[in-house]
Amino acid sequence: MSTEEWQEWVLETHSDRVELLEDWFFAQGALAVSLEDNADEPLLEPGPGETPVWQNVKVTALFAGDFDLEPIRAALPTDLLAENSRSDITALADRAWERVWMDEFSPIQMGPRLWICPSWTEPPDSAAINVYLDPGLAFGTGTHATTAMCLSALDDAISGGERVVDFGCGSGILAIAALRLGAASALGVDNDPQAITATRDNAERNDIESSSIEVVLPGNAAIAAWTNQSDLVVANILAGPLLALADELMALMKPGGRLMLTGVLSEQAPELIERFIPVNLGVSETRDGWVLLTGQKPA
Ligand SMILES: C[S@@+](CC[C@H](N)C(=O)[O-])C[C@H]1O[C@@H](n2cnc3c(N)ncnc32)[C@H](O)[C@@H]1O
Repeated sequence: MSTEEWQEWVLETHSDRVELLEDWFFAQGALAVSLEDNADEPLLEPGPGETPVWQNVKVTALFAGDFDLEPIRAALPTDLLAENSRSDITALADRAWERVWMDEFSPIQMGPRLWICPSWTEPPDSAAINVYLDPGLAFGTGTHATTAMCLSALDDAISGGERVVDFGCGSGILAIAALRLGAASALGVDNDPQAITATRDNAERNDIESSSIEVVLPGNAAIAAWTNQSDLVVANILAGPLLALADELMALMKPGGRLMLTGVLSEQAPELIERFIPVNLGVSETRDGWVLLTGQKPA
């Protein structure tokens, strides 16, 4: 291997092409491919049938330092890229690539008890509740303000034994954090089959007993057992789908049960508060223009 041991190639694409680009990189000999939300643009409302991940995705492919990238650079399928995509190749000396990737996703403390840690790191506080996650296609590593607000609120709200529904579970981060914080059982629901797989994989990685978590698509018969039974329902989706799901989400809560909603921009909060009037929603936090709305079903 040359003195530069690694090469990192960064490109930009759209969510509907990300898998094809990832497959293409692996077919060319990439050692690893990572995906990240590209830029701070707000999440767009995913329409039915659309892959509901970040709209713009930064794709980073890692190659060995002595790999000849010129032939594949010439063959790069430009139709898989975002318009005006960057194409930056950086030589990384030694094992600096590990540090670079770790810098981009490093352990984050979400609340007094809870940390989210990439699976390749040593947790900074081994006595804390550490949830291990890897960045992947399913949304939810804790780096987005909406996920972070939910995690912090869960750290505060879970005292032990709760039944928790994570509607729009993505990577499963919220359901898994709730269980690790002491919830008795969790239901993850997502309309993206990739999220179902990611949640199950991440639960296993976090030593969650398979009997304490169910992960299903919307409309699954298993949801009936949670209706009017859930102590806490958390949903980090977007304003449009939350408005459409309002009756279903409120029906899941048992009397006295709590609701946490996010994925909602500040200016959208009044419409949500109006739609969820039976549970008396209020804004409990705002970060980066996003709000966390919390409410409670009358006992
Ligand atoms: C912003 S991500 C949140 C992921 C994770 N819960 C978190 O907090 O980071 C929203 C998730 O909701 C899912 N979703 C969107 N609309 C949905 C719907 N109508 N029913 C169920 N899941 C939905 C998406 O597939 C996506 O995984």
